[in-house]
Amino acid sequence: MAPNNLHQYIISVGVIVSLATFLNPTYGDDGLSPDYYKGVCPQALPTVRAVVKQAIHSEPRNGASLLRLHFHDCFVNGCDGSVLLDDTPEMKGEKTATPNNNSLRAFDVVDEIKAAVDKACNGPLVSCADILALAARDSVFIMGGRQYYYKVLLGRRDATSASIEDANNHLPLATTAFSDLLSRFFQPNGLDLKDMVVLSGAHTIGFAKCDSFKARLYNDTNIDSNFATSLKQSCPPSGGSNLTALDVSTASFDINYYSDLLQNKGVLHSDQELYKGDGCESDQLVKLYSSNPNAFAKDFATSMVKMGKIKPLLENQGEIRSSCRKTNRGGYY
Ligand code: HEM
Ligand SMILES: *[C@@H]1O[C@H](CO)[C@@H](O)[C@H](O)[C@H]1NC(C)=O
Ligand SMILES: *[C@@H]1O[C@H](CO)[C@@H](O)[C@H](O)[C@H]1NC(C)=O
Ligand SMILES: *[C@@H]1O[C@H](CO)[C@@H](O)[C@H](O)[C@H]1NC(C)=O
Repeated sequence: MAPNNLHQYIISVGVIVSLATFLNPTYGDDGLSPDYYKGVCPQALPTVRAVVKQAIHSEPRNGASLLRLHFHDCFVNGCDGSVLLDDTPEMKGEKTATPNNNSLRAFDVVDEIKAAVDKACNGPLVSCADILALAARDSVFIMGGRQYYYKVLLGRRDATSASIEDANNHLPLATTAFSDLLSRFFQPNGLDLKDMVVLSGAHTIGFAKCDSFKARLYNDTNIDSNFATSLKQSCPPSGGSNLTALDVSTASFDINYYSDLLQNKGVLHSDQELYKGDGCESDQLVKLYSSNPNAFAKDFATSMVKMGKIKPLLENQGEIRSSCRKTNRGGYY
């Protein structure tokens, strides 16, 4: 595209986006709307879905990894795509923070989605932050079925900076205790105990490395002994990167995570923290979800939408990135 055309293109896209925003009747108080891209690029959502579907088909774990990316994005300064920024010589981003390093994955899938969506929309209209929110929902829907479908609020813009310190401070670890999970990580994001129990149900898909649960395996007492014996075979006390499925049906989004917890078969220490067997509020929710798939599906959707509203960048804040890995000017600003 010649510079002149490009300029014109950017102006007309800007006008269309503002018009769509202005005319959109469902544009909510939080500044996000499920119909944000309806007028400007009706192909956006089906395009994300198609690439996610293909990625899960080639490797089911990709769905889990995409869901986790949205969570790690939202908990660190809001859902702003900051988790996707590569390190630059001047600034260390979130990717190498302790909870993320050698653990977050599917960045290549995000790149594929971004390329496909930009092609379908004739330019960079859809933010990387929105791509993560959509890819998370599509993964849950594809791996769980119709009952796990929910509408994603859209219109987030992308951050122009990222911080390794913020990621280290705002993401929980597998070793984090119940009260800290709630008071230090979920509540500061406006999420309550119920949100925490139901969102942890995301561990119904995906895997954890031996390093993430070896302390539980060798030191926790509230772990089923046969379960522990079996996991120890691929996870020595010295640790390693051998993987274990987070629940008994790792490629299916379902309620088995909760029935595992009832049997002291939570893989992570933080998982088993949600069920102690003393009848507390969290125990009761685990019991409810272990026996009621409809309650889990409905509450999971509600809490995902709530998590997706954490401090989005709106309107003239941030930017719509051309590459999810770097800011439009390059570097951080
Ligand atoms: C309650 C606090 C949480 C803690 C402490 C936690 C911690 C972890 C850890 C340690 C792993 C394994 C990482 C590895 O070994 O490489 C993991 C995996 C995962 N987490 Fe969480 N998590 C939490 C909540 C959540 C939430 C709220 C979501 C999404 C809504 C989520 C989604 C996932 C998924 C899908 C995986 C598997 C990823 C894959 O296989 O690539 N987690 N989590
Ligand atoms: C991330 O992991 C790599 C490879 O294991 C390691 O060399 C690097 O030091 C880690 N980065 C940080 C910031 O811990
Ligand atoms: C178990 O706990 C002890 C004492 O806190 C600690 O030194 C050890 O490293 C833990 N074991 C594992 C495998 O983490
Ligand atoms: C990984 O698991 C296999 C068994 O599945 C085991 O033989 C091997 O020692 C484990 N590797 C490490 C580094 O723990």
